[in-house]
Amino acid sequence: MRKTPRPEDVFTPRSAVVNPKMYVLRQSLENSLISALRGRLHIVIHGESGTGKSWLFKKVLSDESAEYTVANLANASRLGSIAAELKNLVDREETAVKTGYEEEKFAELKPVFASVNLSHRGLYTYGSMEPFEACLKMLRMKAGVNIAALVFDNLEAAFTEPLLKELADLLILCDDERYDHYKVRIIIVGVPSGIKEYYYKTPHHSTIANRLYELPEVSRLSLVEAKTLLRNGLIDELKYSCDNLDSILSHIVWVTDRVPQMLHEYGLELSKLAEVSDRTLTEDLIEQADSAWMFQSLQHAYAVIENHMNERETRAGRRNQTLFALGSVDGEHFRAPEVEHILRKVFPVSTKGTALNIPQMLSHLASGDRPVIKRSPKGDEYSFTDPRLRMVLRAMLVKNNEERVFKRRMSR
Ligand SMILES: Nc1ncnc2c1ncn2[C@@H]1O[C@H](COP(=O)(O)OP(=O)(O)O)[C@@H](O)[C@H]1O
Ligand SMILES: [Mg+2]
Repeated sequence: MRKTPRPEDVFTPRSAVVNPKMYVLRQSLENSLISALRGRLHIVIHGESGTGKSWLFKKVLSDESAEYTVANLANASRLGSIAAELKNLVDREETAVKTGYEEEKFAELKPVFASVNLSHRGLYTYGSMEPFEACLKMLRMKAGVNIAALVFDNLEAAFTEPLLKELADLLILCDDERYDHYKVRIIIVGVPSGIKEYYYKTPHHSTIANRLYELPEVSRLSLVEAKTLLRNGLIDELKYSCDNLDSILSHIVWVTDRVPQMLHEYGLELSKLAEVSDRTLTEDLIEQADSAWMFQSLQHAYAVIENHMNERETRAGRRNQTLFALGSVDGEHFRAPEVEHILRKVFPVSTKGTALNIPQMLSHLASGDRPVIKRSPKGDEYSFTDPRLRMVLRAMLVKNNEERVFKRRMSR
């Protein structure tokens, strides 16, 4: 019988390696990526942090038996150029091949020696090649006839003039026969969706925008996908028991707002508690998990909300109710009437026959040095300054029968 895994092998909020047992299929995004890989345009994958962009391309590329390497643009930014990061990747590969070569010589594996020697010779010509071409060549040699892809990940870390210009130059080179004949697909991954607009607006670079294909945004999971993720981890993998699973799963997908990384973070906290509580999931355990998760993942967001709650004002009660209502907003953008509607619905007695002046309340929550929400450039719409604020509002605020709102504590 298979041994039950440990919580940290199941819930891996920051793992760069895809765990196939926990991976939740995202069919339509995967299909878009697969068909884009067959096309000719450079592929852009965008979406907020933690929504699963890196797992998506890794899963799809390995399903497609593609050979790929990831250039980390955060590292490029640190090193001062994308070329320096590409050189790193090629150097690392050469060292790996050299080590493999030495080991094979040592083992005297004569039959494969000739082929090893061949690829070995090929790789050594990189030294004289500029890093981008060396990288493309390396990928094509390793891929053979399969798909080869060079992924530029964490574009948000390189959103500066010089690096975007360098990236543009690399993309232009791809049209040149010398680079094009390696047939390596370029994938650009990052938070901002604005890369196309950026290049359209930049003189001489609009041609690049025409060569980019943006996948639909990678965002939070659907309700079904999020519950599947939790069920895979808590029930199939860790084998916990639970009497009211559906209500517990509904709570977790609500507070985490269905963001994959957050579901893993929450799952990890909950399963650590379950390990010492008879491996049984209860409402009481969920309350403890909320607090532990807030402490692990949402401390900053918690402090921001706390700060707005603590302000000494006569209307603090109403403001706390407004914060509670904001937590219930579902869409990314919202307007005052929507917030007022929720407020009146959730707090019917204390709002009855009273003018609420929600626009003023919202503009207050959007001010100060740590605002909760921000006004969109388009006018009367708002959004959260950080997606974690919505999560913390859901996990930390409770209302009592008198329609007063209180905060729950974080705990270690
Ligand atoms: N399809 C998925 N199924 C299950 N878990 C996922 C999935 N995608 C992402 N995750 C989880 O979310 C975490 C963050 O995903 P990642 O791909 O690194 O996000 P991003 O690159 O968008 O910041 C991963 O470490 C993993 O735990
Ligand atoms: Mg990533």
